[in-house]
This record gives sequence, C-alpha cells and structure tokens, in this order.
Amino acid sequence: MTSTPLSGLTTPVGGVATPGVFTLTSSDMAGLHLSDSFDEDALRREREKYRERPVPTMKQADLIKKVKEDEASGKKSFSLIVVGHVDAGKSTLMGRLLYEIGNVTEKQKTQNERGAQRAGKSSFAFAWGLDALGDERDRGVTIDIATTHFETPHRNITLLDAPGHRDFIPAMISGAAQADVALMVIDGSPGEFEAGFQRGGQTREHAWLVRSLGVKEIIVAVNKMDVVDWSQDRYDDIVDDMKPFLASAGFHHSKTTFLPLAAMEGVNVLERDLPTEAQWYKGPTLVDALDKADVPERPYDAPLRIPLSNVFKGQTAIASGVAVQGRLCSGLVQVGDNVRAVPGDVVATVRTIEADEDTAPYAVAGQNVTLYLSGCDANQLAIGSVLCPINYPCPLVRRFTAQILVFDITAPIITGTAVELFHHSVNVPATISKLISISEKGQVVKTNPRVLQKGTTATVELTVRSPTGSTRPPLIPLETAKENKEMGRVLLRRGGETIAAGMVMELL
Ligand code: GTP
Ligand code: MG
Repeated sequence: MTSTPLSGLTTPVGGVATPGVFTLTSSDMAGLHLSDSFDEDALRREREKYRERPVPTMKQADLIKKVKEDEASGKKSFSLIVVGHVDAGKSTLMGRLLYEIGNVTEKQKTQNERGAQRAGKSSFAFAWGLDALGDERDRGVTIDIATTHFETPHRNITLLDAPGHRDFIPAMISGAAQADVALMVIDGSPGEFEAGFQRGGQTREHAWLVRSLGVKEIIVAVNKMDVVDWSQDRYDDIVDDMKPFLASAGFHHSKTTFLPLAAMEGVNVLERDLPTEAQWYKGPTLVDALDKADVPERPYDAPLRIPLSNVFKGQTAIASGVAVQGRLCSGLVQVGDNVRAVPGDVVATVRTIEADEDTAPYAVAGQNVTLYLSGCDANQLAIGSVLCPINYPCPLVRRFTAQILVFDITAPIITGTAVELFHHSVNVPATISKLISISEKGQVVKTNPRVLQKGTTATVELTVRSPTGSTRPPLIPLETAKENKEMGRVLLRRGGETIAAGMVMELL
C-alpha cells in the first residue's frame, strides 16, 4: 500500500492502465478499505489537494492583462480588518456574519454553543466561529489574527479579525498592514462606547492605526443595540461623536459608513429584520455596506513584493519544503517563478500557491497567500523578509528619512527618542536621529525643530539600532513611498503607545 504511485490516484475515467502499474482512483481506494493506517489516507488526501496543476506559465504582460480583464468583469476582492475596543463584539459579529452567509454550518454552530456552555460562557458562542485556538477559547479573547474568506453578491472578502487588547496591538498592526477596508465595532451599551472612545481606549488608537497603515474606507457598526432598546438618540450621539473624530483621523466622509446592529441576535447583519423600536433606521445592513465597499487599484505592474508574516515547515504532504505567508504589496507571482528573499541571499522556486483557501496558478497584488517553496531552508527565511523578483530585489537600509504624523502623545519627541519601528509584520528598535523640519499643509514652516508635539507633521531621520544581544544593527527592507506605497509605510511606537505613523521619503 505504501508504494501506490501518486499518479495512480488520478487515472482518468476510461484511461489506459499501464501494465504492471497499480492504478486506482481515490474512491476505489476508499472502497477497498485497504489502508492499514488512517494517517496514510489523510496524507494521500492532502497530496491530492495540493497536487500541482500543470499550468503553462504566462508571460508577465499577458497575465497582467488577463488579471485586469478578470477584475473588470468579475467579483472584486478586498481584505477586511475588524477592529474596536475590547469586548465590543468583534468576534461575535464575525461569527454571526459567517453563519448567516453560510460559511459556518449549523452543525458547527451547535458544537460551538455546546462548547461555550460547558465553559460557562454561552454568550461567546458566536465568537467561537472565529476564535478557534484552544487558548483563546479558554480566555474568550482574540490573540492571533484569524483569516477567513466569504463572499457577498459583488465582493470576495478576506477577513482578518484582530485582537482588541492593548497588549496585542503589534499583532493588529500586522493585520491592518494587510487590509483595504476596516470594520470598526463599537459597543453601544451605556458607558461602553465612552470607555472605548476616551483617551487610552482602543477605538481612537485603532482608527488612527488603520488609517495610517493605508486603510481608506471604514464601516462603523454600532453593536449591542438590543441593550439600549434600539434607541435612536443613543445611536445618533455615538455617530455625532465619531464623525468628526474619523474625519480628523483622515477618513473621507464619503468613505465612512455607520450602521446599528445586534451581533448576538444577528439583527441588521444580513437581513433588515429590525424590531419595531428600530423602524427609524433606513440605512444599509452590514452585508449591503460590505458589498458596496470600494476596492483600491492594485499595483500589478510594480515589481513583486511579499513581506512575510509567517514562515513554517510545510505540514502537508506536498509541502515537504517551506511554507510562507504574506500579502502581495505589488506585482504578481506564478507557480514556477524563482524568487529572492531579502535580507539574505536566498533564491527559491514557487511550487504551489494557495490563495482564498484554494490552490491557484498565480496570485496578484492585494491577495493574501500561502506559498510553498523549494530550494531553500525554513531557517534561511524570517518573518519580515520580503520575496522579490530575482533581478529586482527590495533595497535594504539602516538609515532613512520619513514624513511622519505625530499622534496624541504624552511626552514630546526629541532628537534621540528611542522607538520601536514597525514596517509590515515586524518591528526593530530604532532612534529618531534627526528632526529635519515641520510642515503645515505641505509647506515647510520650520527647519531643525527641537521638539515635535502631538498633531505635527514632520520630516525626521530614523536610524535602526542593534537589538539587545547583537552588535550590528540589522538592515531592513524598505522602499520610498513614491516607489512603492505599501513598502514605504512605517509606524513608530514607544512604551506600548503608538506615537507616529508615516511614509519613507529617502533611503540614506
Ligand atoms: P476581544 O476579542 O476580546 O477584543 O473581544 P470581541 O470584540 O471579539 O468581543 P466578543 O465577540 O468576544 O464579545 C464580547 C461580549 O459581548 C460577549 O459576552 C458577547 O456575547 C457580547 N455581545 C456581542 N454582541 C452582542 C450583542 O449584540 N448584544 C449583546 N447584548 N451582547 C453582545
Ligand atoms: Mg475577539
């Protein structure tokens, strides 16, 4: 049994069997109950799933043309990040949404409900649709970024559920760096909106973060409306507070949608099944709003850039090699392509591409993918490495200038301020080594300032420091924002607080 050739599993109906070679279809195999171990069967199913499809590699230019045509005619795809203060109901809402759309089956839901009841917190039932990790289940808190796919009539959506806790903001940054649209969940119950909105609450910080990481569109779901009996006054008050705030964070009013809902009961999620006390509401359901979300134009023509958010040894049969995950910031990649990982000098071949939970012959800018690579070792790659075309690697730097927007900080920024520098999924220690100028409305109003206060736009020089225990500061892959918007985005944190965000101006 162990030596059944893989090709034997796929003998076409009516195909000619080669004498002397065992050829069986997978259903034949199952019917015979011959397998002596469950693992082997599972392995075979995995192989089948990841079997490389023979695809003729297209010329880059032809592929770009095809992708653009497909995009114009078909469903548009975007990545959605769900943010909001702790316990606002993010996981519950996403669980409910997936259930109503049909991605979570009735059976799973019952299982989740039973599990939650046993753990003594039945209201978490829907949250369990997403919070799948054992550890998270015990605590009822989201600690990792879960990704799921679902579809609305006109959109293909990759969902990233980010944790709301302060301690987990770095994980959220890595999620938001991969998102196009934000869904901000607000707890409408008495006192809870206020707790999230005040200084130190995550509502403000999340809005700043997602906007500075390039998210232009936001859908604000005012949740737990059942708790306030669908009071229009309560809803209007929250909207009135949020509107000017989101505008000041940089969200254009045409890219901001508000809606009331009750995630737990699933009201105004997929259906407009509003209770009588909510008849005042005439706007969209959550699914309507998602279905209309704008999809940004993708830089297909720019060179390939995939910052890695995860590297692991392939656990599936085909992936005896290395598996990596990340989002294509720009360009496209096809099965068979050779790619270079920077920093380092590793070249690998792309064996299999997995996008939207399925294998694909190619992937394009804007997609989140898992790639299975051959010709390299997992330990030659790291989270934060960027996959590039062999002849067009991303530049590496230790020093650069950036234009930053200073957030709502407690202590001003001065020359020598030590920060954690975030770019994509990684962070390195760095120093603000020079304050170059302050600008207002695009004009330099002061050069060589001594301090930067909150709300200022400034150009600064940043220098990467060596992490404790190593002598040489690392080189980090960066590009100017002009060259590549996503690769030129940085975020600065200090003592657990995000102090500024900005774009790379010049590599030094
Ligand atoms: P973190 O991941 O920890 O940041 O929390 P979260 O935003 O994912 O919240 P979660 O979905 O875990 O829900 C928090 C609590 O709010 C749970 O007890 C939910 O049952 C409750 N909840 C969520 N939606 C509703 C709702 O529409 N109405 C009411 N009454 N309670 C809700
Ligand atoms: Mg959660």
